[in-house]
Amino acid sequence: MQINKAQFICSSERLGQLPKDTLREFAFIGRSNVGKSSLVNMLTGRNGLAKVSGTPGKTKLINHFRINDTWYLVDLPGYGYARTSKAQRDEFSKIILDYVLRCERMHFLFVLIDSRLEPQKIDLRFIEMLGREGIPFGLIFTKTDKLSAAQLARSAERYRRTLAEQWEELPPIFFSSSEKRTGREEILGFIEKCLADC
Ligand code: GTP
Ligand code: MG
Repeated sequence: MQINKAQFICSSERLGQLPKDTLREFAFIGRSNVGKSSLVNMLTGRNGLAKVSGTPGKTKLINHFRINDTWYLVDLPGYGYARTSKAQRDEFSKIILDYVLRCERMHFLFVLIDSRLEPQKIDLRFIEMLGREGIPFGLIFTKTDKLSAAQLARSAERYRRTLAEQWEELPPIFFSSSEKRTGREEILGFIEKCLADC
């Protein structure tokens, strides 16, 4: 898919503020600092479109970017970052749960996983919730530039084995590096196919 136009539309803190039109939405979620906003910039080819930071917890709102005037790419806040207040320490914040479980225009959710880490409980709990709720999702292993090809293959295999303990069928899996700009064709091709299929 060629991206001719990528516009920031709005940041929302609740569902009532989301864009009112009916374009389909493809959203990106994962632990704080996993590389969601960097991936949005890499996919759109617009550095600085989404705000990136080395400090976890940078993205706090639901950010909508309209692509080619035909679909929305949605950058979500991260989970798993311990903040101070009790409400915010709850594992998945209200803003995340509201969007993921209740936004009917969300067509597909990409869950980003740090390719360097062994399967993290919080990611597995999030994925389990998606399965329970019937939310269509796939996984993107990020920061693959930090691993050798052999390390990446081992890490992905370990993840597949862990998921296979719970799931009969594995979700679509992608690999990306925003540094090296890899994974772009596969992820955008998948979105293009989803848009064409329905
Ligand atoms: P929150 O909004 O805080 O939840 O974080 P996020 O998931 O949006 O992560 P963000 O894109 O802000 O990136 C976090 C850090 O990881 C930044 O320092 C990025 O430069 C770095 N980073 C992101 N993607 C990659 C990648 O593919 N490779 C490498 N080496 N670093 C990356
Ligand atoms: Mg972010």
